[in-house]
Amino acid sequence: MTSPQNKAFYLTTPIYYVNDAPHIGHAYTTVAGDVMTRWLRMAGENVWFLTGTDEHGQKVLRTAEANNVAPQVWADRLVQDAWLPVLDVIDAKNDDFIRTTEPRHIERVQKFLTGLKDAGEIYEGAYEGPYCVGCEEFKLPADLITNESGENLCPIHSKPVEQISETNYFFKLSAYTQRLIAHYEANPHAVRPESAYNEVMSFLRSGLLDLSISRSTFDWGIEVPWDPSQVVYVWFDALLNYATAVGLGDDPESVGGQKFAQTWPADVHLVGKDILRFHAIIWPAMLMAANLALPGCVFAHGWLLVGGEKMSKSKLTGISPKSIVDLVGSDAFRYYFLRAITFGNDGAFSWEDLVARYTSELANGLGNLASRVQAMVGKYFDGALPAPSEYAPADLAIQELLAKTAKSADESVRDFDFQSGIIAVKEFIDAVNLYVTEQQPWVIAKGEDVQSQERLATILYTICESLRAISILYCPIMPKSMSTLWQEIGATESGLVQSLNGVGTWGQLKPGVAIVKGESMFPRIEEPASI
Ligand code: ME8
Ligand code: MG
Repeated sequence: MTSPQNKAFYLTTPIYYVNDAPHIGHAYTTVAGDVMTRWLRMAGENVWFLTGTDEHGQKVLRTAEANNVAPQVWADRLVQDAWLPVLDVIDAKNDDFIRTTEPRHIERVQKFLTGLKDAGEIYEGAYEGPYCVGCEEFKLPADLITNESGENLCPIHSKPVEQISETNYFFKLSAYTQRLIAHYEANPHAVRPESAYNEVMSFLRSGLLDLSISRSTFDWGIEVPWDPSQVVYVWFDALLNYATAVGLGDDPESVGGQKFAQTWPADVHLVGKDILRFHAIIWPAMLMAANLALPGCVFAHGWLLVGGEKMSKSKLTGISPKSIVDLVGSDAFRYYFLRAITFGNDGAFSWEDLVARYTSELANGLGNLASRVQAMVGKYFDGALPAPSEYAPADLAIQELLAKTAKSADESVRDFDFQSGIIAVKEFIDAVNLYVTEQQPWVIAKGEDVQSQERLATILYTICESLRAISILYCPIMPKSMSTLWQEIGATESGLVQSLNGVGTWGQLKPGVAIVKGESMFPRIEEPASI
């Protein structure tokens, strides 16, 4: 249990629509959040990692109707059969999973809304304008594109928008324009990357309109507490998940209230750039209106593209995470997307690139290094880690590089630059592989004199110590194989804890512990016929 003085680092993913099963775009955000939170946990920090599902609104309602089931039945099915299982598939270790149809969410949303109404932040009015059900967004005419037949389309979904005309409740969003601008001017890292910050600022400077926050033409949503003929607009409902999941509005003495004190405000809302404005404009305005602290940062990453377009459920261009994990395993899945794409930029997924990196960086680079040293300790020292003797300059260079690698990987990952963090570790692996090639332990092993045996012992110890550090630095990215490697190189038997603290300190493995050659960490893969 945490104490309020020890506030958790609180990171969220979007809550995903249950209109269909997850594709690798959703898994990408969740993996990034999982790597960041595992990293911090391994550094001994107190962390809270939330993900979940967004279940109300017209998009989900219409999908359920098209499948001839009630929306709640549809949502339950998708959550059980697809959204919860995918967390296992990609090996995500979230602390909580929120569904917007849960009573804990609904009750707190209603209480929040009543509070805003009482504070004079909400008024009744007429809404008329275009709406994209794919985005669940009220659009402005300037947001739209026109097709050959003159229809207005949503540029994201390439589908016609619908004209709606309703009497709704409005939130006084426009009143927060200046405060939002001032907030972001004072906190230029509150929206990242910089391209996202600039987009938000220019949108704010163009001025905001008040926001319709209820709908009256369908009933799949949270009932507006003072008017049962209206349901809460799905985004207003969904954004609140970040706060309802940790006890928003509960009595400070209650379990929920204490949880809120220990987590709020969120440190990072990780989102795709498609939903930046909701998170960087509407959400903080809602919090300002309720006198709640604002999140530390909204980080909007780029899109996984297919044929140059955003991979999407509605365009049926989604690739399932399982189809990739079945081929290369969850570790390589997690590694690949953070390694290949600069976080913040768009990236195209390709099977060829995945297989090429798997083979060269994981199977040949890391897998080989581990199996070679395990085999040599087995052959030359009966599987017991030998004690190092005097270190030569080449050994000391590895030690120095490790200290540098540990520092730069930590800085990069904490800065959301997962790619640089991985590259730093990969370059260390490359350096150790080169060291093995240059030191030629198999040649030295032929010398039966004491000096040769001592030199051989020092080289093999150096490689094993390097692997100890690698199995920590890569653990947040590849938890399964790195936990196995940690065991195989005798780290547990050495009495060590797999922690990032002190990872770069040399000489932690205890001579004499068993070095075990296990199954191949990254077995060669048969390329599927589709490649
Ligand atoms: O927008 N590339 O849910 P959603 C990268 N329910 N990331 C992608 C992606 C792609 N091609 N496609 C999806 C919603 N994502 C709302 C959110 S939050 C209060 C409510 C990821 O199911 C990315 O994180 O459409 C994106 O923002 C999110 O999934 C959208 O998921
Ligand atoms: Mg979407």
